Amino acid sequence: MISRLSIFAKIFIAFSGLALIPLVIVMALLTSNYEQMTQQLIGQAGANVSPEMAVHISQRVAQVTHDAYLMLAFVFLISAILVLFTAVFLSQSFSKPVRLLSAATRHLARGDFSMRLETDRQDEFGALVESFNRMADQLEDAHRRLETTNADLEGRVLLRTAELEMANLQLRAAADKMEETVRLKGDFLANLSHELLTPLQAVLGYAELLYDRIYGPLDGRQHEAVGRIRHNAQMLQRLISDIIDLAKVETGRMTLTIEQFSPGELVESIVQTLRPLFLTKRLELKCECAADLPATLSSDRGKVQHVLYNLLSNSLKFTNAGEVSLRVAGRDDGRRVTIEVRDTGIGIAPDKLATIFESFRQVDSSSTRPAGGAGIGLALTKQLVDLLGGDIEVESELAKGSLFRVVIPAKLSLSRDPEARTTAIGAKTIVSIDDDETMLDLLTETLEPAGFRVIRCTDGDAGVALAKQIHPYAVTLDIRLPERDGWSILQELKNNPETRGIPVIILSVIEDRAQGDQFGVDGYLTKPFSRDELIEHLRAVRRESVKYH
Ligand SMILES: Nc1ncnc2c1ncn2[C@@H]1O[C@H](COP(=O)(O)OP(=O)(O)OP(=O)(O)O)[C@@H](O)[C@H]1O
Ligand SMILES: [Mg+2]
Repeated sequence: MISRLSIFAKIFIAFSGLALIPLVIVMALLTSNYEQMTQQLIGQAGANVSPEMAVHISQRVAQVTHDAYLMLAFVFLISAILVLFTAVFLSQSFSKPVRLLSAATRHLARGDFSMRLETDRQDEFGALVESFNRMADQLEDAHRRLETTNADLEGRVLLRTAELEMANLQLRAAADKMEETVRLKGDFLANLSHELLTPLQAVLGYAELLYDRIYGPLDGRQHEAVGRIRHNAQMLQRLISDIIDLAKVETGRMTLTIEQFSPGELVESIVQTLRPLFLTKRLELKCECAADLPATLSSDRGKVQHVLYNLLSNSLKFTNAGEVSLRVAGRDDGRRVTIEVRDTGIGIAPDKLATIFESFRQVDSSSTRPAGGAGIGLALTKQLVDLLGGDIEVESELAKGSLFRVVIPAKLSLSRDPEARTTAIGAKTIVSIDDDETMLDLLTETLEPAGFRVIRCTDGDAGVALAKQIHPYAVTLDIRLPERDGWSILQELKNNPETRGIPVIILSVIEDRAQGDQFGVDGYLTKPFSRDELIEHLRAVRRESVKYH
């Protein structure tokens, strides 16, 4: 029973016990003193007390002492019982509420804020329980508010996420639509321009025949008039060709034809063509080919010529007095070529320099407006320079003149990716997307002896990601794939400017060339095909020309 008492009760028993011991000692001492005192009295009485009387007194004293001891034991027992009961009572009144409070606090700590204690006591414990209940009320209230705030925040986060997802979807849809619009615009421009070029060809052709007096003699005024028709038709033809080229570049249909040519001869021929136009404006056209200019370039001659023509004709157009000079030189030990066109013309304001390479942008000032033009020459020039793997920059000062500098590689690699150009990672690598391992084994065994490296992809998405990363020589693609079909992979590759130029060859049992053509496939082989057919197809898609964005 003692072990179940509270610490307060145990302390109380200990102190009470210690208090009883001196009491018992005092009583025992008093009793023994009383006995001794009686014996002394009998001794002093001596002869006056008869022996019987002395025996009687002694017996009486012994009896009284014995009673006193009994009384003492009884008092001790009663006191002990009283102490024990008092301790039990104290234990009940001190310890129980403390235990209850402790249990309730544990509940609170575990997050059960509904825990409350009941008491009708008016003492300190009653006050303690009341404080505890108030604290629990406040905690429960704070917890509830926290939960409401959390729920509110979660709701807001969900709402925001949904809004963002919606905005993303809309953006994606808008981007898709814009891409589609650009493609349609490109198609439209290309078609329209072809429709314009055909009649223009007739106008120009007949104007030339008339001008050359094939249909008979012309007097001076007639000859001059026909000459103007011819000149304007030529300008119109050039403009339409530029529009077609720009549309081709923007829709990824521009092709590069790489050939070996002499840059010196190219410069000479273009200068000879343009010199008469400079003479009519009384402008001097200077030309210099530096000694370090490589003897041959391996690039697209037509595009380099176009770039030169556009820059020189701008200088001619925007220079009224002074001179225009063309300088072509080697750079980086002949690995690159610099083309500089410098003029003493009207110049370009610094704030306009950034926009002149954008389509349809013209520096809108009274001095440039009369010069005419559609504002696409430099935009196309920049795109062509990009295709040639080079850079273009401009320095200009108003009323002083301009300098346009183009730097292109002397040897143009087929891959547009600069890394691939130097390391040629993708040069002979084929990314093969097929879910059939046996087919992939066969492709590896067929192509590796022919000098190709095959990277196998059983997953379409991984194949697309890889193509983006390494710009392989080509991608071979199965149509029937488990996750997503080959058509959607083909579309993704062909719609992305980064991967558009990578040739894709379909290797499938499905015979649907029309669909393949529609999505821009570069080669189509139906299974089973021979080793030679496959290698021939791979070589064919990279021969001579390659599609670029
Ligand atoms: N050499 C130059 N000197 C001064 N301004 C120039 C020069 N070259 C280009 N510009 C400015 O940049 C603008 C854009 O040139 P861009 O060749 O694209 O168009 P354009 O010559 O006006 O028209 P287009 O080339 O289509 O006939 C020009 O309108 C002109 O304002
Ligand atoms: Mg121009």
